[in-house]
Amino acid sequence: MIYQACIACGERYGADEIVYLCRRCGDLLEVRYDYDLLEAKLEKSDWQSLPLSVWRYRDFMPIRDPSRIVSLNEGGTGLHSCQRLVNLLGVKRLYVKNEGENPTGSFKDRGMTVGITKAMELNVKSVICASTGNTSASLAAYAAKAGLECIVLIPSGKIAYGKLAQAMVHGAKVVQIQGNFDQALKIVLELSEKYKEFYLLNSINPYRLEGQKSLAYEICDQFNREPPDRVVLPVGNAGNISAIWKGLTEFNRLGLISRLPKMTGIQAEGAAPIARAIKSGKKKIVSIDNPETIATAIRIGAPISWKKAIKAIEESKGRAETVTDEEILEAQKMLARSEGLFVEPASASSVAGLKKLLETGEIDKDEVVVCVATGHGLKDPDVAIKTSEKPLEVDAETEFIEKLLGLSRPLPATVVECPDGM
Ligand code: F0G
Repeated sequence: MIYQACIACGERYGADEIVYLCRRCGDLLEVRYDYDLLEAKLEKSDWQSLPLSVWRYRDFMPIRDPSRIVSLNEGGTGLHSCQRLVNLLGVKRLYVKNEGENPTGSFKDRGMTVGITKAMELNVKSVICASTGNTSASLAAYAAKAGLECIVLIPSGKIAYGKLAQAMVHGAKVVQIQGNFDQALKIVLELSEKYKEFYLLNSINPYRLEGQKSLAYEICDQFNREPPDRVVLPVGNAGNISAIWKGLTEFNRLGLISRLPKMTGIQAEGAAPIARAIKSGKKKIVSIDNPETIATAIRIGAPISWKKAIKAIEESKGRAETVTDEEILEAQKMLARSEGLFVEPASASSVAGLKKLLETGEIDKDEVVVCVATGHGLKDPDVAIKTSEKPLEVDAETEFIEKLLGLSRPLPATVVECPDGM
């Protein structure tokens, strides 16, 4: 049996009810299962022989008819062992879960394949979201695949160009607002409450988070069910950290893993309400009116899932940290140059945060750590170009290139044999 329940008062809602916040107390919802039934189902299932992907875990997903799944082949992303970073940072073992390998280049695809499949089950015709970029790119692609109308609200001038191109090319109705993400989210929530024909696919939608929990399942399976000590990831609206924690606790509850990693959330200094609350021992966040950071993906001042995120960090005995834009850019370069992984600035904040926490001694050097790189670097080429050395430009002559590369040296003297008599 599958249903939705309020995380605060426990009020239940049917699996097919379109509801985003508890009608009794206004808090967040989550999808719940009868885990005894699920365990029995798993015993008869061939899921462990399927390749790594979101839909390897279809038995753990709130979807009725697997033949109607809307998929672009999401999940199954690489877990890269980062030996050169280990040498630089001094941690025992470090892996990067590279979510840029997903079809639209970010972890959002895990949530959208499930969210859009649910939208089809619910027979909706239009989907809507607010976004700092990646959600809009992913929703636009999956809506196109499913033949649904797609509307996205984005903060004007504050989303990376690659993401904007994706939303536009997939045919979404793109609306830029003169405001930030938090305002955009408020508007789409209001619209979808008022006009039931718009199905909201921000991470407030608990079905989307069900897809995102597959990231945790994959990490467990890639570690042969001996999970790492810690998972470090960037936090914006706080859906992903909540989804990963749900996935980990579900695997634990089903006896598939026997210990839980510490969840460690990293936020940009100018947009860090959750990290500030955790670091000062508060149970509630104070939202930020004008969040600012170069990592536009996580430029969020009033994260909707803050309560779930604080619970994940506290229950797992994890941590939260803030990083500056400079630290983010340094980590982006470090990943690109020492591991061949090009990730967008928000994603690099996980490595920046790990570096900082190792330096302050808050993370033990003896740990096995996974950093989640949430989105591909090509999403935001502008930042990469602005912060890298400019390419050199010379005339199209071999001689110039030789000089440039320090190769110009006198040609070896050739001895010319002169025929007799000359
Ligand atoms: N990393 C990237 C690359 C993101 O795009 C986001 C969120 C996050 C991290 C943070 O994840 O919100 O679940 O805590 N991007 C959203 C968007 C807000 O609209 O694309 P979160």
